[in-house]
Amino acid sequence: MSNTIGSIIGGRPASGTPAGTVSSPNPSRLADVVAEVQLADAATFAAACAEAKRAQPSWAATPAPVRGRAIAAIGRIVEANKEALARLVTRELGKPRGEALGEVQEIIDTCDFFLGEGRRLYGQTVPSEMPDKQLFTFRVPVGAAAVVTAGNFPVAVPSWYLVPALVAGNTVVWKPAEYAAASARALFELFQAAGLPEGVLNLVFADGAATFAGLEQSLREGSIDKIGFTGSTAVGRQIGELAGRHLQVPCLELGGKNPMVITPSADIALAVEGALFSGFGTAGQRCTSLGSIIVHESLHDEFLDRFAAATSAAAVGDPTQDVLYGPMLDQKFAGRFEEYLGWIQPHHKVLGSSGLGRISAANPRDGFVGDPEAGLFYHPTIVDGVQPGDALFLQETFGPIVGVTTYSGLDEAITLANTPGYGLSSAVYTNDPHDAFRFRQGISAGMVSVNNSTSGAEAHLPFGGNGLSGNGSRQSGIWVLDQFTRWQAMNWDYSGRLQKAQMDVAEIIPDLDYRLDS
Ligand code: UN1
Repeated sequence: MSNTIGSIIGGRPASGTPAGTVSSPNPSRLADVVAEVQLADAATFAAACAEAKRAQPSWAATPAPVRGRAIAAIGRIVEANKEALARLVTRELGKPRGEALGEVQEIIDTCDFFLGEGRRLYGQTVPSEMPDKQLFTFRVPVGAAAVVTAGNFPVAVPSWYLVPALVAGNTVVWKPAEYAAASARALFELFQAAGLPEGVLNLVFADGAATFAGLEQSLREGSIDKIGFTGSTAVGRQIGELAGRHLQVPCLELGGKNPMVITPSADIALAVEGALFSGFGTAGQRCTSLGSIIVHESLHDEFLDRFAAATSAAAVGDPTQDVLYGPMLDQKFAGRFEEYLGWIQPHHKVLGSSGLGRISAANPRDGFVGDPEAGLFYHPTIVDGVQPGDALFLQETFGPIVGVTTYSGLDEAITLANTPGYGLSSAVYTNDPHDAFRFRQGISAGMVSVNNSTSGAEAHLPFGGNGLSGNGSRQSGIWVLDQFTRWQAMNWDYSGRLQKAQMDVAEIIPDLDYRLDS
């Protein structure tokens, strides 16, 4: 059963399919088309931004506690639809049921956090240096935001943008990934069910080129005040350049090459468990997925044996069954993953499965769950002997592949961990507090786990990266409010005369030469 979906602007379906249609298939059963997606062109994208801009002043004038109630309602509606939304995420993106339920829970957690923000959004009262004058700060919404999201977290990561943007009084144009369109459309419907006024949240399906041209036009026309983008470093650079030309700072959540350092005092069993989950969970397609393991040379052999055994034994396959991971998200990612496998060189040793590349009848995976030929399934791949100059060590490899290298001193491990120049997530496995804190201090990543894997951040801590992973913007918790609000300073002089700052200020005369009798 297929289902045709399109953009919704100002509460109405956008007319026509100016840029054609694409289908969003189930990646674990490619014959199952989840949605036919009608694509908008740049002009339609820009029209959505103009609509969001039109709707923004009255949404901002809606009292913040009332906006907070809308967020509370979204949380409850998502909770009531948790099973159905998770099932759709499994069908459209191939996430195993447990992960899909966790993803929906992340939306609920985000709503739970921000529903109260409608009653806070605190500003400050600040003393003035002059009498009969008072100073204040106010958080004001940025305006209309364009939010462009990836499909690996098709509903949780969008909610990290939409929920704080809306509670703070912004309106939004959301452009989800085409291969996650049905999940996006379902989340959009749940938001609308909370009663958001027309034009406050708009949904546009478009390809990358139309989106970029639409953003360009909207920035020129002054209808977009903020861009939020989750996706590749290469596209993040282009968005950063475009926004910069319009003197805007986008919120960028980009790729990662997340390192895991295992020190001599580590609990090896725990490290193996963490490496398995963060390396191969979601088929390695999280921006927080494990990139490289940097293991102390004294533990290398034991760790590798146990990690390879655990990986070989892991259940891979049909995501409706009990598996560690399912398919690649989409053909686009499967194709790129095959290119990354081409980076394996003769000095590397490959472990972790009964084959390499796409799992099929001719290239089987021992213990595969389901029919490998039906979808985009890939062998888990551990590459030992990776060197700091290797592409596999330096570049993000979105998919089920993990590199392993060794170190002898912690400073060397930290240098290796920082070498690729990303800086999203990182992990250290150690039972030595000195090593834990030295790692935290030296690592360039925005997120540091101690005795926990690189993925699986909680929804109310700052999420974001540095270097190739982003421009320092942070999502989640109180920190994301700085993305969707600006500080306005107000001073109110009720003295009835012009009191000049720095000049008309009373002085208390100190005796700075005063000394105690010795
Ligand atoms: C992403 O891959 O873009 O920390 C987000 C995690 C998840 C979010 C990942 N909570 O792995």
